[in-house]
Amino acid sequence: MNRPSYRVTELLGDGIGAELSEAVHRLAEALPIHLEFVPVDLRVESRRARGMAIYDEAVEKILDTGVALKHPTATTEESPNAVLRRRLDLSVIHRPVYTIPGVPTNFRRELDLDIVRIATGGTYDDPGRMIGDDGAVSLRIVERRPVREAARYAFNLARKTSKRVTSSSKYTIQKATDGLFESVAREVAGQFPEVPHNVELFDALLGKVIMAPEKFQIVLVLNEYGDFLSDMACGLAGSLGIGASANLAFDASAVVRVALFDAAHGTAPDIAGKRLANPTAIFLAFSMLLYQLGEIALGQAVKNSTLDLLREGTRTPDLGGRESTGSFTEAVAAEVARRLAEKAPAAG
Ligand code: NAI
Repeated sequence: MNRPSYRVTELLGDGIGAELSEAVHRLAEALPIHLEFVPVDLRVESRRARGMAIYDEAVEKILDTGVALKHPTATTEESPNAVLRRRLDLSVIHRPVYTIPGVPTNFRRELDLDIVRIATGGTYDDPGRMIGDDGAVSLRIVERRPVREAARYAFNLARKTSKRVTSSSKYTIQKATDGLFESVAREVAGQFPEVPHNVELFDALLGKVIMAPEKFQIVLVLNEYGDFLSDMACGLAGSLGIGASANLAFDASAVVRVALFDAAHGTAPDIAGKRLANPTAIFLAFSMLLYQLGEIALGQAVKNSTLDLLREGTRTPDLGGRESTGSFTEAVAAEVARRLAEKAPAAG
């Protein structure tokens, strides 16, 4: 039988990046698809040698494959993440945050949020300026296009996963900016009548996520609110180090044009080369990539195998376990293969 085949640009990184890349390749071998990884060397030596030309190559390859997996890169002269975000017009960040069984947390409740954040504008595009000696001013920018893209992405995700969408802002005070955001969200909600949608004031939302997290599933927010909410939710979930995100760019009809997936953590120079790196976050990023390719069952198998093994105590030292990067990877690959074989129709 012909295996489905996909091409994925892989952006190689610094520190533990090489070990994570090896782990992902090993895991990919356990899948019944053919993944061709198209590499771009974003390690610091390569960036220094090639200057900004390296980004021309990265952008060209990412636009060609449409999907990319990025390993952590040291921020030196420039931030590769910032350059890629700007060059590829990655206007939306999707960040799932959930409590992971086996990961210690001070929060007793279960949390399972998909934060869909507009990655541009808000208060973050204008650093502001002084007015005289004692005052300062900055502009807050909300634009229809990225809000519409983010809203359509959030509602599509809700449709696919049978979840509900909460849009959240301070529309009662920021009447023009947040009012525009909510009106676009409502307009898009109208195109998805089967998806439940509600609106929460952002300050109230923060309290409610802590008190009643089960009421929230997909949360659509402007840039700065998404920044605050992501870190708060990660803190509650106790998993700052194992988060993953999708960074998304859209075409004129708000369909995903480019999707770049990465782990939230950095290059961990203190443990690089010691086989201590925890590949959980890059596996969760890889799982999101499989969803984006339409390989939903494979994405689920990668995510659930990784999380179930963590719950059962198969963990790397950062989570109190004894596994190496390699042995944890082997365990996940074997579990993924086992689950897929169980699901596959019997031969003959
Ligand atoms: P870091 O996330 O690399 O490390 C913080 C701590 O977490 C360290 O003790 C490290 O060993 C541990 N850690 C991180 N990832 C781990 C993993 N997968 N398994 C086990 N332990 C892990 O953050 P730090 O030290 O602030 O930054 C180091 C470098 O990474 C800097 O050059 C920074 O610019 C870069 N960085 C890159 C990012 C990216 O490319 N997305 C994101 C954050 C930082």
